[in-house]
Amino acid sequence: MTLSGKFITFEGGEGTGKSTQLRLLSEYLTQKGIENIQTKEPGGTEIGLELRRILVTGDKDKMDAVAEALMYYADRRIHLTKKIWPALEKGEWVLSDRFADSTVAYQYYGYEKRIPKDLLDDLYKISVGDFKPDLTLILDLDPEIGLARSMKKASGMVQKETRHESRGLKFHQNLRAGFLEMAKAEPHRFVVINADTDINSLHSQIVEVVNERFGLSHE
Ligand code: TMP
Repeated sequence: MTLSGKFITFEGGEGTGKSTQLRLLSEYLTQKGIENIQTKEPGGTEIGLELRRILVTGDKDKMDAVAEALMYYADRRIHLTKKIWPALEKGEWVLSDRFADSTVAYQYYGYEKRIPKDLLDDLYKISVGDFKPDLTLILDLDPEIGLARSMKKASGMVQKETRHESRGLKFHQNLRAGFLEMAKAEPHRFVVINADTDINSLHSQIVEVVNERFGLSHE
């Protein structure tokens, strides 16, 4: 399998503006003549959407972190085999709103009582193999600001996707620190971007990083 497209993932806590920034980057790449698709986890496929409903709605304690990790990985495996890898094989770029780093941040770093990290490493190996994103952008934001934004957005939803938001501030502070720790450990893959700014300047920062990373011209 030759994957000639590029795989870019957007990561971060709640309400950091990932989906808006992903859409803007997709438009930018399209303008440059680079074919690309926008996708997300959980819920990048039909089955994934069903898993998403189970994972992000309802009572926060309806399942534990191990069960969550297994379900996020089921979603991820289907997402990879049915959507991400086929697109990359065709030479399209894939922009994903979250990927495996979210499982480490949420299911491992978020909780005070951590599940074995080996379990997540094994799930990665089984489901994803050696494959990794070419670039992971972490949109970093104080969770107090992000959670407030996210809860405001959810107030208009019929089915509220706030299962993780309801875990409280400490959980979200832990996972933010987790993302930053992961970025430090793998500086060639991650770029941390301060998301406490307006939409346009955040977009410009992202464009700058992508241009540089993939050698795209600046016009
Ligand atoms: P979002 O698409 O609005 O960010 O919602 C997805 C939610 O699922 C968000 O609260 C983060 C959470 N999540 C995990 O806990 N683990 C994962 O592996 C992924 C992909 C998402």
